[in-house]
Amino acid sequence: MHVSRWSVARRAALGTLAGTLAWSHSPERASTSSLRTAPLNTGARIPALGFGTYLMTGDECRASVLAALRSGYRHIDTAQGYLNERQVADALEESGVPRGEVFLTSKLWCDSHGTEATRRAIRNTLRRLRTDYLDLFLIHAPDNQGETPEEIIELRRQSWLVMEEEHRKGTLRAIGVSNFEPRHIDQLLRAGRVTPAVNQIECHPYLQQRELTEYCSSKGIVVEAYGSVGADGLLADPVVGRVAASHRRSPAQVLLRHAVQRGQVALVKSSNPRRIRENARVFDFALSDEEMRALDALERGERTYWDNSDVV
Ligand SMILES: NC(=O)c1ccc[n+]([C@@H]2O[C@H](COP(=O)([O-])OP(=O)(O)OC[C@H]3O[C@@H](n4cnc5c(N)ncnc54)[C@H](OP(=O)(O)O)[C@@H]3O)[C@@H](O)[C@H]2O)c1
Repeated sequence: MHVSRWSVARRAALGTLAGTLAWSHSPERASTSSLRTAPLNTGARIPALGFGTYLMTGDECRASVLAALRSGYRHIDTAQGYLNERQVADALEESGVPRGEVFLTSKLWCDSHGTEATRRAIRNTLRRLRTDYLDLFLIHAPDNQGETPEEIIELRRQSWLVMEEEHRKGTLRAIGVSNFEPRHIDQLLRAGRVTPAVNQIECHPYLQQRELTEYCSSKGIVVEAYGSVGADGLLADPVVGRVAASHRRSPAQVLLRHAVQRGQVALVKSSNPRRIRENARVFDFALSDEEMRALDALERGERTYWDNSDVV
């Protein structure tokens, strides 16, 4: 999984997109309904469970997003690089759920960094999603087509300034980043005027990214965690299994609950209607401090998805 996900992303980043694609652990806090949404630095709130759409295209995507909306998800995460924005729009339309009730995120792909490319990419995303605004728009990753370190940083800076412009106009209600390290965010903070609302990163018991999440928290940046269910080996981990059995829950529910109870927004994808419903049920039970500590103790610095940590 490591190699293919990284190489797919890297190939696309180099221009062949067509070929691819802390909060406390206190149970008192954890059991409150405030965990269902998290505050963004814009004043808006983001649903703490988001339905992911990575690796879903065509009718599988339309049907899965529709099933998710019917199961109560109100936060959909897509991206230009997933090549499924049209199918997400189809599902939204078919569901009959008013646009204003759905928190919709998309992301700028790595081949569209730079002023004009970003303007064009935002226009195209809005057209494909058949909406005149996004609740959140992210720079998908720090990597881009720049050929020198200076060019890479400059292209990212230009994209961010365009996103700030669209944020001021209200087209992008919140803007953020994904797979960014602290230094990448510091560069944006020096270049622009808006602090990213979100950093979407791989984060789960095997890769808790403590330094990065503490940095985000110090800047008021919400962490969106991906990989809670999909990270290699996690679902079969005996500790996860033991906690799940004691709550009569599935390992996936425990892992999503772990992320939400850490104060993160958890993203999860499924194409299976039963699992889509199952994954939505993470707000009606709580993990004890001891269980949170047992899951935290699984840290092994193990990454399943792409590694952007060495991008300049
Ligand atoms: N910004 C980035 O670079 C980035 C990278 C990766 C992901 N993301 C976002 O985060 C979302 C989540 O990540 P992901 O899609 O890679 O992985 P994930 O949601 O953590 O895991 C998905 C995998 O787990 C299976 N699954 C789902 N629910 C299950 C359950 N209850 N029991 C057993 N298996 C289950 C799915 O299979 P079935 O479909 O068969 O159920 C699929 O194989 C993505 O869809 C995307 O929106 C962002």
